[in-house]
Amino acid sequence: MRRIGVLTSGGDGPGLNPCIRAVVRTGLALGMSVMGIRRGYSGLIGGEIEEMTARSVGGIIGRGGTILGTTRSPEFSTPQGQLDAMRNLNRFGIEGLVVIGGNGSLTGALKLHERGVKVVGLPGTIDNDLAGSDTTIGVDTTLNTILDAIDKIKDTASSHQRAFLIETMGRDCGYLAVMSAIAGGAEMALIPEQPTALEDVSNTLKEAYVRGKAHCIIIVAEGWKPGITALAAFLNAQKAELGFEVRTIVLGHVQRGGSPTAYDRILATRLGAAAVEALNDGASGVMIGWVDGKIAQTPLQEVIKPSNKVRPELFKLEKMMEK
Ligand code: ADP
Ligand code: F6P
Repeated sequence: MRRIGVLTSGGDGPGLNPCIRAVVRTGLALGMSVMGIRRGYSGLIGGEIEEMTARSVGGIIGRGGTILGTTRSPEFSTPQGQLDAMRNLNRFGIEGLVVIGGNGSLTGALKLHERGVKVVGLPGTIDNDLAGSDTTIGVDTTLNTILDAIDKIKDTASSHQRAFLIETMGRDCGYLAVMSAIAGGAEMALIPEQPTALEDVSNTLKEAYVRGKAHCIIIVAEGWKPGITALAAFLNAQKAELGFEVRTIVLGHVQRGGSPTAYDRILATRLGAAAVEALNDGASGVMIGWVDGKIAQTPLQEVIKPSNKVRPELFKLEKMMEK
């Protein structure tokens, strides 16, 4: 393969830059030229494509975000968008494509593969909601960001004897919420995969107060229903009975930024390099992930199926630690 392209797509996260760097430098080491495609599938459709060198990825290993930029591109979901994308791949002589992104982006990659494009995916999402990789690029850094916030909130919560509802990201997946609850010593985690009644939350608060706890930390995944606002309203309606005063904080996009941890930099570098080697060896329609401590290839069809990363033993462990 003489020329490959690389793009980042969908929600960004820490570790995308080390991944781009690994793709570019591995490609160059294998004698290929590497084209950087700006702004995900939007840039592929619009022809925002330029050659990258070893120097264009210098100094980025420790930077959050993505130097290529990223978008959510509704246009690419249409047949016309995919045809225009293929037209530009041909126009720029790109024989193989590396797509770094989450579930939606890898669904797009599968569409290209089905149309005959050589494409390999990489798991770039903080949600950790993809099959075919035990962890995805960005998750470790994001968990550390959440923990930093929990630790700080606990300081003030203890001083004031308050309960805090802390919302973490994760549209459909409670992985970040459960893992940060375990590592942050929270009193409860509310996740989309496990319905919890509002009364159970108020009982947890009351019991924690009566047991003499200095604070009560409840981690609420973004996708949990009925959501953090409804929960806060429910709790505030019975203020007098709870013991703790309740405060709410949505961590939001702070979770997507920041310098990637050592773990994410190494994961991104290993997976990025393996993706280019796989393309060079003729692979297509697969994602390169990390399974049981090894590089693994999984068909994109499998990767994009719903995957339950909150395994029962993790949820059980979190519950056991709540008291
Ligand atoms: P993520 O990759 O982080 O899950 P999105 O779900 O927003 O992010 O998807 C990113 C992009 O991937 C979309 O804007 C679209 O261009 C492309 N995509 C998503 N779903 C499809 C689909 N079913 N067919 C083709 N492209 C898709
Ligand atoms: O998919 C990654 C993610 O961060 C989700 O956890 C979150 O629901 C969503 O993206 C937020 O998207 P946006 O950046 O478009 O607000």
